[in-house]
Amino acid sequence: MRNIHKRIQKLLEARIFAACDATEYEWWYERLREKRWVGNGRIVDLPIAIEVGCFHGGGLAMLAFMMEEFDGYVVGVDGFGTNAFHEDNGDMFDVLRALETLDVRERVVMAVGASERVARLLFPTLAEDKENVVFLHIDADHRYPATLRDFMRFQSRVCVGGIVSFHDITDSQVRKSVDELRAMGRLDDWQKLETPNPYDLEDIEAFSVGWRTEAYVRVK
Ligand SMILES: C[S@@+](CC[C@H](N)C(=O)[O-])C[C@H]1O[C@@H](n2cnc3c(N)ncnc32)[C@H](O)[C@@H]1O
Repeated sequence: MRNIHKRIQKLLEARIFAACDATEYEWWYERLREKRWVGNGRIVDLPIAIEVGCFHGGGLAMLAFMMEEFDGYVVGVDGFGTNAFHEDNGDMFDVLRALETLDVRERVVMAVGASERVARLLFPTLAEDKENVVFLHIDADHRYPATLRDFMRFQSRVCVGGIVSFHDITDSQVRKSVDELRAMGRLDDWQKLETPNPYDLEDIEAFSVGWRTEAYVRVK
């Protein structure tokens, strides 16, 4: 990791909110480094990450630090109030400020809109190579079946060796979406990863938040 530790430190010092703990992003980065990404029968040469749900931009910046190491880019998808799941809407200007502050603005393309619209209208035109997504982070509308739908919207873009992470998995409605994907056989081509759990489960329950991620790597 070239600068990633220093940059994460800068993010923490600037008090820019990110939903995952810094150690989790470092963990993603290590997992991604181990992989050989294959899309459309060839090695992916323009890797991208997608974050569905960007909030104030901290997680997006973390992904940008990560993707810069792979000469890749990040697409941030957020409706900033359109069709949002509760009052926790992100703020586009906070996101842009965070990216500027952390010097990763040029690594990120923002797609402002509800994930359904972005997937249908914008995403097909983003890249010639359709399977160049190496990291898909789903953290937007948590109400069942929104997580399931976000996965279905973007998953076909993820290359073999790419990772999908479902954030807030301890939220019962997110859990239900992921369990249903499994029951429908939609995760048959994916292998579950053992992810780090930096938060104590009792803390999580005490604060009624689901800050924990479940992740899968595409194997076929
Ligand atoms: C939990 S926050 C995301 C946290 C972020 N991943 C981070 O690391 O800081 C959820 C975000 O999803 C966005 N959102 C909710 N429903 C959405 C939808 N249908 N389409 C796009 N964005 C949505 C909200 O505006 C909010 O910013």
